[in-house]
Order: sequence, then structure tokens, then C-alpha cells
Amino acid sequence: MNMVKRPRRLRGNVTLRKMVRETRMDKSSLIYPMFVTEGRGIRHEIPSMPGQYHYSLDMLPAALEEVAEAGVSSIMLFGIPETKDEQGSSAWAEEGIIQKALAAGKKAVPELYYITDVCMCEYTSHGHCGALGGHDVDNDKTLPLLAKTALSHVQAGADMVAPSVMMDGRVAAIRQILDENGHEETPIMSYAVKYASAFYGPFREAADSAPAFGDRKTYQMDYHNVKEGLKEALLDVEEGADLVMVKPALSYLDVIRRVSEQVHVPVAAYSVSGEYAMIKAAAMKGWIDEAAVVCEAAASIYRAGAGVLLSYYAKELAKFMDEGRIG
Ligand code: PBG
Repeated sequence: MNMVKRPRRLRGNVTLRKMVRETRMDKSSLIYPMFVTEGRGIRHEIPSMPGQYHYSLDMLPAALEEVAEAGVSSIMLFGIPETKDEQGSSAWAEEGIIQKALAAGKKAVPELYYITDVCMCEYTSHGHCGALGGHDVDNDKTLPLLAKTALSHVQAGADMVAPSVMMDGRVAAIRQILDENGHEETPIMSYAVKYASAFYGPFREAADSAPAFGDRKTYQMDYHNVKEGLKEALLDVEEGADLVMVKPALSYLDVIRRVSEQVHVPVAAYSVSGEYAMIKAAAMKGWIDEAAVVCEAAASIYRAGAGVLLSYYAKELAKFMDEGRIG
């Protein structure tokens, strides 16, 4: 057979396959999302996310140590407050759940990098992501609330803040208040391209943050659109975002690709609760090989152009990367 080009030649053995890998990944790019709650002695498994937990502050240090031991260096904190109100005032309270978690966490496991999710939906009685104006969220009334929440997180020790609420101008508002208070060096990772997605279902149960009425479609993006996502990403970079995120990940690989080609900042992707739940459920049924699917899904996100990955499988992925199974 006269065939000089034989693609199989480079697949001949594992050493060679690893040598010519096009997608490289490293566990230092992983961020593990965690849920903290008031109370004592709580380590509750989230029903729709087996293997993920709510931790009360006394249980948090052990959980953080586990993360560090797994080789994951960064976490994203979500808070479930004791009380909710119309404005979401426990989001910026000095004794708020995130503020206390930062203090406890940084004291117990200082080597981790602490990122906080900045949003109102877990803190408002109506479950929307900001202050209401009629039956919708009032964009401009919400900005100062987000800004003060972000500042209080940083004052409590957050290394980076991640505004997840899709309000126009949020990055600029947060950058301004951080700078005015001497936190010019604290980076902002914006959830820049965040779609109104059914894949957040398990998270909303976990964070008790489902909207009491309506949906989030007036602020989160329509999943038919990608140019709009580029606009969002570019705007956030202009406003001072240091990293931009695309969320969810697996159904939005094309968006990750397009955004990563357009912006000159690191692009993160968030493989969300519904993505985790789908893989976990099929694995629990014995229908798929969990580890193999987790690796393949993660590689696809990096291959699409993400440099940073937020995943509920971060601890497992760190191990798989160490073992050379992926990466
Ligand atoms: C908002 C927020 C949400 C998620 C992260 N931050 C929920 C939403 O926008 O409705 C979803 C994360 C996930 O599904 O894993 N605070």
C-alpha cells in the first residue's frame, strides 16, 4: 500500500501519544466550588449532587484540608445564610456566612486560594439576583449592593471575587469600590458569559436560591446567542475583569472557543451542578465509567480554550492529572 501519511503512526504507544498531546492541563488550573452554611456539626450531602456537601463552619477546616491534600489549590465559596430579606442584606453583613467562612478557612488552611461568588440570589427572600423594581431586578439599584458585598468579602480575606450576577456594569462598580478602599491588587473573575440554564437546577436546590417567581431570563443570557456573549466578555474586560468565565461549560464549548479567541485575559469555564449530576447519576446506575467520562469531559473544556476549570470533580481531576491519565 503506497501511503506515506499514516495518522496512526503517532498513536502507536502511550509515550508517543502523550508526547504529541495537543491539550495540556495542570491541576493548578482547577477551582473547587464549596457550600457553607450556618449551624454546627453539619456535613449534609446535597441530594441532587451526591458527593458534594453543605458544611457548617466547624466542619469546614477538615473539608478544606481534604481539598488541599487532593492537590487543588483554589476554592470558590457559596454561602447559605441563616436569614434572607428583600434586599439580601446578609450578603454584606460583617458576620455573614461567607465572611465568617473566610476567617475560619484562612486561619485553618491558609495555603488555599479563596475566591467568593458575589451574588444576591442566596440572600434575597424572593431568590432573584438583586434588588427588585416591580417584577424585575433593578440593575442600577443592585450595583451598589454587589459592590458592598464584594468589598466585605475582600475585607474578610477573599483573595479574588467572582460576580456571578448578570447585571450590566457590575465589574466596573466592584473594581471602583475595591480600588477606593485600597484593594487595587485584588483580581475580579467575572461570570461574563452566563446563560439562563436549566443545568443550574441542582445548585439552586443546594443553595436554596431558586427564584420565588419568574425566571432569570431578563439578566442571564439566551442560549441561542454567541455574539452577545462576546459582547459581554469584551465589556467585562473593558470594565476591568482580570479573568472572564463562560458558564455552563459542556453545552457551551463553542462559546468558550469564541471567547478565548477574542479576549486577552484568562478564560475560565464552570462545569455546573447539572453537568455533575448527570455524570454522577449515570455512574451510580453503572451505565458509564465515571472516571473515564470525567476525564473526557474535562479535556473537552480545556480543548475548547478554557485555561481554568471550576468543577465539582476538581479533587478527582487533580488526581487524574497527577496520574497522567489526562493532562
Ligand atoms: C448565582 C450562581 C448560580 C450558580 C453559580 N452562581 C446559580 C444561578 O445563577 O441560578 C450555578 C452553579 C451551578 O449550577 O453549579 N449565585
